[in-house]
Amino acid sequence: MCGIIGYVGHRPATPVVMEGLRRLEYRGYDSAGVAWMTPGKINIARASGKLRALEEKLSRMPAITSTCAMGHTRWATHGEPAERNAHPHLSNDSSLAVVHNGIIENYRELKKFLLEKGHQFYSDTDTEVLVHLIAERRKTEPDLLRAFAAALSEAKGAYAVCLLSADHPDTVYAARMSAPLIVGLGTGENFIASDIPAFLPYTREVMFLEDGEIVRATASSCEAMSLRDLKPLPKEKHTIQWNLQDAQKDGYKHFMLKEIFEQPRVIKDGMTGRADGETGDVKIPELDNAPIPGRIHIVACGTSYHAGLWGKALIENLADIPAEAEIASEFRYKNKFLRDPGEVALFISQSGETADTLAALRIMKQRGVPTIGVCNVVGSSIAREADYTIFTQAGPEISVASTKAMTSQMICLALMALYWGKRKRTLERNRIRETLDILFSLPAALDDNLPEMRKRANELAKKYAAFRNFFYLGRGVGYPLALEGALKLKELSYIHAEGYAAGEMKHGPIALIDPEFPTFAMAFQDDLLEKVKSNIEEVVSRGGKVIVLSNGAPAAKAADAWLIPPVDGAFAAFMALPALQLFSYEVADYLGKDVDQPRNLAKSVTVE
Ligand code: M6R
Repeated sequence: MCGIIGYVGHRPATPVVMEGLRRLEYRGYDSAGVAWMTPGKINIARASGKLRALEEKLSRMPAITSTCAMGHTRWATHGEPAERNAHPHLSNDSSLAVVHNGIIENYRELKKFLLEKGHQFYSDTDTEVLVHLIAERRKTEPDLLRAFAAALSEAKGAYAVCLLSADHPDTVYAARMSAPLIVGLGTGENFIASDIPAFLPYTREVMFLEDGEIVRATASSCEAMSLRDLKPLPKEKHTIQWNLQDAQKDGYKHFMLKEIFEQPRVIKDGMTGRADGETGDVKIPELDNAPIPGRIHIVACGTSYHAGLWGKALIENLADIPAEAEIASEFRYKNKFLRDPGEVALFISQSGETADTLAALRIMKQRGVPTIGVCNVVGSSIAREADYTIFTQAGPEISVASTKAMTSQMICLALMALYWGKRKRTLERNRIRETLDILFSLPAALDDNLPEMRKRANELAKKYAAFRNFFYLGRGVGYPLALEGALKLKELSYIHAEGYAAGEMKHGPIALIDPEFPTFAMAFQDDLLEKVKSNIEEVVSRGGKVIVLSNGAPAAKAADAWLIPPVDGAFAAFMALPALQLFSYEVADYLGKDVDQPRNLAKSVTVE
């Protein structure tokens, strides 16, 4: 939610910042703005709407040669998406400017105090209090760093914030509390951003900031300090392994399409070093020191929750561990937790920054429950704070709609189920080997079938795009997929879609069925197939149109059958998921929707 970037170095800074914002736009796209230094002065340009509006504005201005600048791309929380609410926000004398990601929860009290002190506000945002508060504290504390830290100590909530000051034209200040912020260390230049792709064209050397840290960066230096006492902190440097190519579209029309087609590679990478097909062994060294769960809570949001729901069945069946999949925003407010001995909590998050998932993790840690993070983003909060972390190796996922991340999470969960089954000795070596054989067969099967799947998705999309409502039905392994299929359709095409357990239809929802309310049914070759077939018949006999996604013989008198390659058991999901993703992609593209940046959304939900 919101992307920020600061740059100081030897290059013209606004193009660097604008390019960085383009790579951060997935975090929010309600408005954008930049601030840049000229001697003794901070200049700003802001525009409502996507980044191109700001680009157009800048293109009409005289060339900017400043080498120190910062920028912001906004996902609106407080204040409508209008230019006056776009960041940067300036102090009344225009000597200070801030960009901010997060929410200042006590902004009302702070605003009241600042209004009494004579500060004038020009936006409806919570952020604007920060810049006035720094200006206020500067009246008694001339040292800018101290005034910045003092102001932040009064702010409650979450922030990743960058500050520019007219008095320090070659310095960017920044601080972090519960919102991601990473420093990119270049040669004769430094970067501070919400996410690594923002500065990846220039450096792979990074320093991850922790909550309660503040930095002062110039072209030649970067000091990290504790916000509390401004004592210098020794920080480790990390080298990022992935490259810019991974964060580009590579000739695909959209990031989403590219990411769907990356899934065979993602499955391979997720297994590399963990699964040995020859010996039938599974190794997850990250978990070797973790207790074997006696019972596991799988906690996540959105698509990651659907991966968790799928993984729950595997962990129960393969590892014989009772498991619950829980929505993080509900789980974190549960008053009573079952306090089983051997309880472990597992948190799944692509970004590793989702506010509810992170809060749930912190609660479980406080209660002394061992925590495991399954994350994609290295250096993210969940990845760093969990007792044990497994990386999903999906590479950067840029499209707001999550696709390859879910596949990578499912691979991790499948391997974890096998790994615990092995450690508990509830799984025979042969069973592990058979399961690994299936997993190893997936990349080639998907590679061979994705183009054909896309064709079928396109045909069906043209036929069904005009409908305004959809049911997605499934049982067993098909149920999490039904939820995920419905989520993808609604977030991308704004068509109402409900994921439902197929057996629940007759308890009410079937009343909605008529020829204008189609159903997308998952009918896989498993023990529940006959039941699913009956559920489909019930819909068809009430005039409902049905698309049946099946991995075997046609499942029912369906309006439209969609055959995907046969894969055994729960692992059929690895074939069905891309089909569902492609259907939603094609519908959204056919309807002319903004596939990679659907309205009202942001990639990483860092507010509650
Ligand atoms: O980064 P996370 O995996 O924690 O994100 C969770 C959800 O916000 C995310 O999966 C969201 O539902 C996606 N937009 C779905 O496509």
